[in-house]
Amino acid sequence: MDEAVRGNRAVWERASEKHVREYDELLEEARGGRELFPRELELLGPVLSGGPTVVHFQSGHGVDDPALVRAGARAVVGIDYSVVAAGAAQRRAAEVGVPCHYLAAEVPGVPVRDGCADLVYTGKGAVIWMRDLDAWARDAARVLRPGGSLFVYDAHPAVPLWSWDEDEPRIRSDRSYFAESHVNDTFPGNGAREWQWTLGQIVTAITRAGLRLDVLEEYAEPFWRPGDGHTAAAWSGRLPNAYALLAHK
Ligand SMILES: C[S@@+](CC[C@H](N)C(=O)[O-])C[C@H]1O[C@@H](n2cnc3c(N)ncnc32)[C@H](O)[C@@H]1O
Repeated sequence: MDEAVRGNRAVWERASEKHVREYDELLEEARGGRELFPRELELLGPVLSGGPTVVHFQSGHGVDDPALVRAGARAVVGIDYSVVAAGAAQRRAAEVGVPCHYLAAEVPGVPVRDGCADLVYTGKGAVIWMRDLDAWARDAARVLRPGGSLFVYDAHPAVPLWSWDEDEPRIRSDRSYFAESHVNDTFPGNGAREWQWTLGQIVTAITRAGLRLDVLEEYAEPFWRPGDGHTAAAWSGRLPNAYALLAHK
């Protein structure tokens, strides 16, 4: 693990402690309060109807995994390098009674067998933490069985540019779409280094890893809004804030 990745991991361990403090709230979400987004369910419908084995890259505190099971997944293996997050997710899965198992490990280099997954699911704040995008895409392709699917639902690569001003959307003067990285200045990844990947780089990495692109969609609605009710003008429908990508091996 390189030094920047190690530093980010320490930030995520601290952030994950907050999720542990919110354990009861997240337990209720896991029991049935949080579902996948309607568009995720539509795009993943054919895959989930086959009862897939899912490997969830950067599963965090695992709140999407019971939802994946409710939508049809046979089992989910969550991978996250935060020991705190993986441990809390495992306890919650046991309490909810879902076939979800968690490994504290780095992505890429996930400790699962080649070809073991029908679906690699990831996103909602994941790709920006990848130091080496080609290695990430190759690892997803390795884990998938032939015919298996990679699904990403994540922040649009333009999101680091948007200011959080309420009156007008503005482009931050300290950011560039083509920058290599920046330091996160909002919760929960505050202080960690994010690596920026353009949409072109993401698609290219996936195809270079041998996957075939089926769907790439961009959305105005962010996948996440702050809990304090703050609304930025950049989220009002004029700018891209999220994307979904479906590819198969
Ligand atoms: C914004 S959270 C998203 C978690 C999950 N996708 C969700 O929606 O709850 C990002 C997660 O990525 C994990 N992470 C970041 N970089 C990682 C890496 N290189 N390997 C494994 N996990 C990583 C962090 O520990 C954190 O739990």
